[in-house]
Parts: sequence; structure tokens; C-alpha cells
Amino acid sequence: MGQFPMRSWSVRCPAAQDTEALGRALGRLLFPGAAVALVGELGAGKTTFARGVLEGLGVHGYLHSPSFSLVHEYPGPVYHLDFYRLEQPQTETALDWEEYLGGEGVALVEWADRCAELLPPRRLEVRLEVLPDGVRRIRLTAHGTALAAVVAALAATQGEPAGL
Ligand SMILES: Nc1ncnc2c1ncn2[C@@H]1O[C@H](COP(=O)(O)OP(=O)(O)OP(=O)(O)O)[C@@H](O)[C@H]1O
Ligand SMILES: [Mg+2]
Repeated sequence: MGQFPMRSWSVRCPAAQDTEALGRALGRLLFPGAAVALVGELGAGKTTFARGVLEGLGVHGYLHSPSFSLVHEYPGPVYHLDFYRLEQPQTETALDWEEYLGGEGVALVEWADRCAELLPPRRLEVRLEVLPDGVRRIRLTAHGTALAAVVAALAATQGEPAGL
């Protein structure tokens, strides 16, 4: 952490469709190899956001929740991972983390904080916080120049400048 340029921006999403729309806008800006780390409590909206990202990337007809498997692969490729049940990544030898998280595809990782050491250093962190009134505060923090540019562009699509 800290060795790459960072950029952070946060926005409030009152309804699930706002969260999904933000994800969709992000998906339109992502590039091959981008890793998105989704962090937030149970039911915060990680899958809702990821569904939007998939749509924005052109993956339609979203079917799966990754809750009961570690990874779903979509055309692109896009990998939708969920670390909720991940206990011993070292023993998950059947899974090719390098391919999912450092390869050509876009990676969307729910519960990314459960195994942060698997994440590449250049990544976009998306933290979803449930406020007392149920509104979600979503903070995006980019690590790396390319993703910092994505956050700036995303903020611009929402009519707001992103601070550093
Ligand atoms: N502003 C909002 N953003 C996202 N979801 C919202 C919002 N308001 C209400 N919701 C509801 O909260 C729930 C979020 O569920 P979702 O599966 O996306 O969360 P999750 O973080 O992936 O949960 P899990 O930890 O179980 O994977 C949905 O039922 C959704 O409709
Ligand atoms: Mg989920």
C-alpha cells in the first residue's frame, strides 16, 4: 500500500438501483486486468454493485450469485469471486488465483478483505457502508494510475470532481 498513486471518491446511494447504476457506470470504464475489491457487511450491496458492473461490461442476463462457489466466469472474461467462505487459500489448489486476479480478465471480488493478500497491489477498493437510514455510502479508492483515472472519470459521469 502506498507505493502507487491513489484516488478516492465517495457517493451516497439511497436505493439498490442507485448502487447498481453506479456499478454499471464503473463497468463501462473498466479495462482488461482490472481488479475490483468489494468490501462491506452482510447485505451491504456488494452483489448489487457487482451485477451493475457486469452489465456495464456488457455481460447481460446475470444469473449467478457466487455465494456458494468461489468463482463464476463470464465472457470477457469477467471473474466474479466471493471470499466469504474462503478459509485457507493456500489449500484451494484447484483455483488459479493468478489467472483470476492478475490476468487478462476483470475480477470482481466480494468479501475481498477476507483474503487481502490474494489481491494485486493495483486494484480498486469499493467499500459499501450502510448508514442508519439504510442509504449506502460507497467509497471507491483506486491504487494505481490507471484505476485512479477510472475513478476520476466515474466521478465526472456523476457530475462530481474526485478529490485526491
Ligand atoms: N442503496 C442500496 N444499495 C444496495 N442494496 C440495497 C440498497 N438499499 C437496499 N438494498 C438491498 O440490500 C440488499 C443487498 O444485497 P446484496 O446481495 O447486494 O448484498 P451483499 O453485500 O452482496 O451481501 P452478502 O454479504 O450476503 O454477499 C438487497 O436486498 C438490496 O435490494
Ligand atoms: Mg453478495
